[in-house]
Amino acid sequence: FERPDGEPFRQRLLVVANRLPVSAIRRGEESWSLEISAGGLVSALLGVKEFEARWIGWAGVNVPDEAGQKALTKALAEKRCIPVFLDEEIVHQYYNGYCNNILWPLFHYIGLPQEDRLATTRSFQSQFAAYKKANQMFADVVNEHYEEGDVVWCHDYHLMFLPKCLKEYNSKMKVGWFLHTPFPSSEIHRTLPSRSELLRAVLAADLVGFHTYDYARHFVSACTRILGLEGTPEGVEDQGRLTRVAAFPIGIDSDRFIRALELPQVQEHIKELKERFSGRKVMLGVDRLDMIKGIPQKILAFEKFLEENAYWRDKVVLLQIAVPTRTDVPEYQKLTSQVHEIVGRINGRFGSLTAVPIHHLDRSLDFHALCALYAVTDVALVTSLRDGMNLVSYEFVACQESKKGVLVLSEFAGAAQSLGAGALLVNPWNITEVASSIGQALNMSADEREKRHQHNFDHVIQHTAQEWAETFVSELNDTVVEAEQRIRE
Ligand code: G6P
Repeated sequence: FERPDGEPFRQRLLVVANRLPVSAIRRGEESWSLEISAGGLVSALLGVKEFEARWIGWAGVNVPDEAGQKALTKALAEKRCIPVFLDEEIVHQYYNGYCNNILWPLFHYIGLPQEDRLATTRSFQSQFAAYKKANQMFADVVNEHYEEGDVVWCHDYHLMFLPKCLKEYNSKMKVGWFLHTPFPSSEIHRTLPSRSELLRAVLAADLVGFHTYDYARHFVSACTRILGLEGTPEGVEDQGRLTRVAAFPIGIDSDRFIRALELPQVQEHIKELKERFSGRKVMLGVDRLDMIKGIPQKILAFEKFLEENAYWRDKVVLLQIAVPTRTDVPEYQKLTSQVHEIVGRINGRFGSLTAVPIHHLDRSLDFHALCALYAVTDVALVTSLRDGMNLVSYEFVACQESKKGVLVLSEFAGAAQSLGAGALLVNPWNITEVASSIGQALNMSADEREKRHQHNFDHVIQHTAQEWAETFVSELNDTVVEAEQRIRE
């Protein structure tokens, strides 16, 4: 990733995440094509002026042969990406198993399904062993590419073991770790068989970051209650060594969305969508098809709204974009059929020969189509059961300068802490409450919409992804300098 102005970067930043910001598609034995996925983290780091970022992560494909690995490594190097090759068995045990079947549901307060509980308990040890092994493989690659003075920034629940592995290689490495999901109450974290090992591994980092103050507080109290360490306003202390713990709420690259709305192709899309849904209010949901997103609950709330408000039945449409994800994990497969069943039933119940109340898409949209959709939306429904932050709510707000639509937002999304005053906050488990907020949103006066939008818009343009990344990395640099001073004194 080159800086747009071609200026040299000052400090090297090694960003380590489970997934690289590109997906690799094999075209031949030694030929690959790469697609950049412009997620939150990528745009955050593209905008950072002070550091030269390099990415280390899994390319999302199994590459068993040496020739393929070599060719992919070379192709990725042009994008400043460095691959970690994980074989199918490791991916199965580490990614599908420990990360997405154990940590992910636990961190989002969603228990394992009844029938899987025993099986998961049995396979726990082998999955945890694979998790540690995978983290060690990431550490090996980081160590190989590390140069003195680099900052190493580890991301997310996949890599909780990484700070420890890195410090074992080199205790002077500057290591930060950031969690993109919630960190649960210590009462939940306590149930993990590997609770202490994971906490200790994270504490090896110099700086540990979360999206909200609550997640940071949960982490510190897990360390005090489970490990018996001392929690201070600065972080966690263990025998004189401090691990700084703090909240760094992420944002988006709001300019990218605002600028996109001016493009002719986006304007064209907007016109088409307006014609297609003329005479109807547009409600929108954009989520990965994940159990934490509360998609079935959202759709049931919409059904309740239609049930109780006959007037609106032919005047509103819900567009739900549900991007398939982690499709090898059984829980996600079950969710897909559950959502299809509910959507089919409601469309059968309230649809007519010419119109249906819910348009449900099982795929992602390209960036321009997504911006257009955000811009024509009257009410966005972000009703996650739990969510680390939720940037869809930010993206929607960024695209609403002309429409000033309403955001219905789960109180269990991290974004509720920043956009709560402008949004209509709901408990996503309470379908009656969500249905009545839908009514409130659709009937809201233009004045109130404007006021609420302005509050959120100001926040979204001021607290950007770039600012988030710069703040975290400079705080990490400062933390290390302060620690060195303490040692000298
Ligand atoms: C969440 C996680 C990310 C992850 C993303 C997509 O946002 O916090 O770390 O990359 O979901 O999930 P996937 O399993 O497809 O990488």
